[in-house]
Amino acid sequence: MLNYNGYIEKLSEEAAETYALMNPHTKEEIIRIPECRGEQMEQAISRAEDGFEKVRYMTAFERSEILDKVSQIVSGHKRIFAETVAKEAGKPMKYALGEVDRTVQTLKFSAIEARKLEGESIPLDAAPNGAGRDAYTIFEPIGVIGAITPFNFPLNLVVHKVGPAIAAGNAIIVKPAEKTPLSAILLREALVEAGLPEDAYLVVTGDGPRLGEVLLNSKAIKKVTFTGSPEVGREIKSQAGLKKVTLELGNNSALYIDQSQKTRVDDIAKQAVTGSFSYNGQVCISTQRIYVHEQIIDEFIDLFKQETEKLVYGDPLDETTDLSNLIDEPSQERLLEWIEEAKQLGASVVAGSLQVEGGLEPTILKDVPREAKIYKEEAFGPVVIINTVRNSEEAINSINHSQYGLNAGVFTNNMKQALQFGHELNVGQVLINDLPTLRFDHMPYGGRKNSGYGYEGVKYAIQEMVNRKMISLNYKF
Ligand code: SIN
Repeated sequence: MLNYNGYIEKLSEEAAETYALMNPHTKEEIIRIPECRGEQMEQAISRAEDGFEKVRYMTAFERSEILDKVSQIVSGHKRIFAETVAKEAGKPMKYALGEVDRTVQTLKFSAIEARKLEGESIPLDAAPNGAGRDAYTIFEPIGVIGAITPFNFPLNLVVHKVGPAIAAGNAIIVKPAEKTPLSAILLREALVEAGLPEDAYLVVTGDGPRLGEVLLNSKAIKKVTFTGSPEVGREIKSQAGLKKVTLELGNNSALYIDQSQKTRVDDIAKQAVTGSFSYNGQVCISTQRIYVHEQIIDEFIDLFKQETEKLVYGDPLDETTDLSNLIDEPSQERLLEWIEEAKQLGASVVAGSLQVEGGLEPTILKDVPREAKIYKEEAFGPVVIINTVRNSEEAINSINHSQYGLNAGVFTNNMKQALQFGHELNVGQVLINDLPTLRFDHMPYGGRKNSGYGYEGVKYAIQEMVNRKMISLNYKF
């Protein structure tokens, strides 16, 4: 039976200390987690170098088979994975089960892409003195990758790094968020069961900055891939030297609803409530800023409020629960301060804004000025702002008025307008007639400005985990 205990026991033997992993809902201890020391990270790096020597010589077929098999194992243990996510992250089961389904897809896409690492033929005779040469490119794995992953998708965002790494023939070490290490360990057990060499994927638990530093300083680590805050991302980039780096950072995702949507406001409001409040808004692409055309805003706000009031607070393990506690108290306090600040600056509260048993009420603010933190920063919590705009130009200007640029969504029937948004929004992904909270696991996913550097989405992540090599044959010599 798949479980994380054995791996945790082994790590604990070497760790000087352990810390209590708490269930954010019950506030009870789930298990004690090893606080790994720098030397343990160094040992893991050296083991991963051995792991790399095994994976790099596997055929694409073999790597693909392992990834295919692990997708079946995860699917076959869906409840165990979902309950682990629900317990450690406080993620309601309906979303935890969804995360496991997406994980299975991410692994399947990784299996497919492992077979498709195709190079190209280069016409060297296109150069004046290049006659008589055939050249082509191949892709080689880069070595050991260091991954630092966040608490909010403790399984699928780990797989977004591990799946492509293995597909490309690399080894990988994951330093999961301190609050959610269990899913990453369970995944490792599944991968080993699927046939991955033991040392090709290792998890090292404990203090983020200290262990991250060891990864960044190690010559053996050829790439660092990180999902988390812009502050940490910037620090990683500045310390990474010549290592490859991928950074998936925050966003304050925006949605525009055009007046052409008058007959669909009801449906859009339902979708938008899910986009804003699923997993309490603790999602990088949560729908945080909604801009609505002045002709339909009153109706939209009424419907959005009605839908929000239907959300059920409760235990994440209960499948009827929509909302549960935030990951920790400081997140809640920060949001309460930001709500207060927005009110002082002139915003009005449509619903919520109070601390209630176990959490923060889902909060709807309207007429929020641009200087408010809840407008400018990433909320990463159950707070949404709804502002009026008079036309598409104003909507584009408002959406682009952000330090971030990951996903944006637009609902419109107007083709010209859709194309205009597609071209003029300064974000990595524009979703027409969908929420900005939409992500499929094989699509390119990368941000501009403070949202990141480089791309994820299985095929695109693989491209950043390989070295291209050109081989030329001079057949006239
Ligand atoms: C994120 O929150 O960083 C990722 C969101 C997703 O994969 O849906």
